[in-house]
Amino acid sequence: MARKGTNSFVVVANRLPVDRVTDPTGQSSWRRSPGGLVTALAPVMRAYEGAWVGWTGGADDAPEPFNTEGMDLVPVPLTADEIQDFYEGFCNATLWPLYHDVIVPPVYHRQWWDVYRRVNNRFARATAGVADEGAVVFVQDYQLQLVPRILRQLRPDLKIGFFLHIPFPPAELFAQLPWRRQILSGLLGADLVGFQRRGAVGNLVALCTRYADAVAADDNIEVEDGRKVRASAFPIAIEVAEIARLAGDPAVITRSETIRTELGSPEHLLLGLDRLDYTKGIGHRLKAWGELLAEGEVNPDDAVLVQVATPSRERVEAYQTLRDEIELQVGRINGEYGRIGAPAVHYLHASYDRPELVALLRAADVMVVTPLRDGMNLVAKEYVAARIDLRGALVLSEFAGAADELDAAFLVNPHDIDGLKQTLIQAMQIPPDEAAERMRRMRNHVVTHDVARWAREFLDSLRAA
Ligand code: ADP
Ligand code: F6P
Repeated sequence: MARKGTNSFVVVANRLPVDRVTDPTGQSSWRRSPGGLVTALAPVMRAYEGAWVGWTGGADDAPEPFNTEGMDLVPVPLTADEIQDFYEGFCNATLWPLYHDVIVPPVYHRQWWDVYRRVNNRFARATAGVADEGAVVFVQDYQLQLVPRILRQLRPDLKIGFFLHIPFPPAELFAQLPWRRQILSGLLGADLVGFQRRGAVGNLVALCTRYADAVAADDNIEVEDGRKVRASAFPIAIEVAEIARLAGDPAVITRSETIRTELGSPEHLLLGLDRLDYTKGIGHRLKAWGELLAEGEVNPDDAVLVQVATPSRERVEAYQTLRDEIELQVGRINGEYGRIGAPAVHYLHASYDRPELVALLRAADVMVVTPLRDGMNLVAKEYVAARIDLRGALVLSEFAGAADELDAAFLVNPHDIDGLKQTLIQAMQIPPDEAAERMRRMRNHVVTHDVARWAREFLDSLRAA
């Protein structure tokens, strides 16, 4: 057995829940990262002397463990080479495309796999070193799928939960992975494996029966030693109250009005807000918008599309290609249909703070969320949370996990460009009563299913597993 620690609740995630900020004098400090996961888990962390094991995001950055806001933070270092082979390589050029319907071809490199194993080992050892006897450990996402198994070997006393934030692919796609048995075995080290959608549970069960010598009945998978692993869906949620608070903040409301004015007070403001990722269907959205402009269905004098694309994984080749393609598309549309001072697409390659994001959400008449595949899509839920005024329309891809819950949205197949165009027009022309009714239904769901409830349900199931 490995060395033990004192924390009775441990979160293990690729990234720490803090960002390093450097002031003008060069002094650096840590600031809590925005995001629902840390907010949801913060009360559990405080109640159970929680620790969070994760990477700082930098190369060879290995600060000593430190405490902030009642959480022990345990940095796991990665070298520059490991960032390339583990984070950019195996995580984001192998697993990410494979798990998102092979929208771009996954790249399989044995060297990357070796480093994935090595880094997962390091995370598991760091976790084993801080977890108290019988502690609950909550492992996050596709970067750390081997951690449950390694941890169980190191520390059989622990209760281990794993949650996959991204889709889990059907057997036909997953079977491509040269290391499919090892990944399945890694996941089956957990007591509870959580997914965003119900279909993923079926995918895991089918794969385990076929490749992991497991016996499965419904959601229960029996593994080698007779141990039972439960698999279930826990659709992740957002910090609704915080977004609603910001949406009602007078400064945010003023900013939202200013955004509309600066855009020329259009009759229709459409908004796309995504990480610049090929899973998000940004190109499909722009194609539909360009055709609507070309056909005169939309007049650039009274309708504008704002596309915010957050910089992401910029050293991965597929992301560089995507950026070139999207920027070419935006340039073409603006060249054809824009006027001086009035582009047809306002494209912003930038990150914003929460108040600015909520101001944008409040300003948008139509929120356009068209991923080709997405585990959940929090932006869709954030739009609903921000519309405390019950205005606005949500166009949502049926391939986003959020579509299971937000069925009062305008659901679309983003591959069907004609269907997408018609839906955008419908959403732009929605009568206010219908908009309010749809928004009320979506808000009822989002407000009653916030991220604190998600965390509670997962952890209760884990304790019972
Ligand atoms: P993913 O996890 O694939 O990036 P999600 O939609 O589930 O997609 O989550 C994205 C998160 O990032 C949301 O909380 C959203 O508010 C935030 N976000 C999106 N765009 C920006 C931006 N430009 N600046 C800051 N945060 C952003
Ligand atoms: O949705 C999956 C996810 O890994 C999130 O956990 C994360 O916030 C987002 O994608 C961005 O990923 P990265 O850590 O690679 O910037």
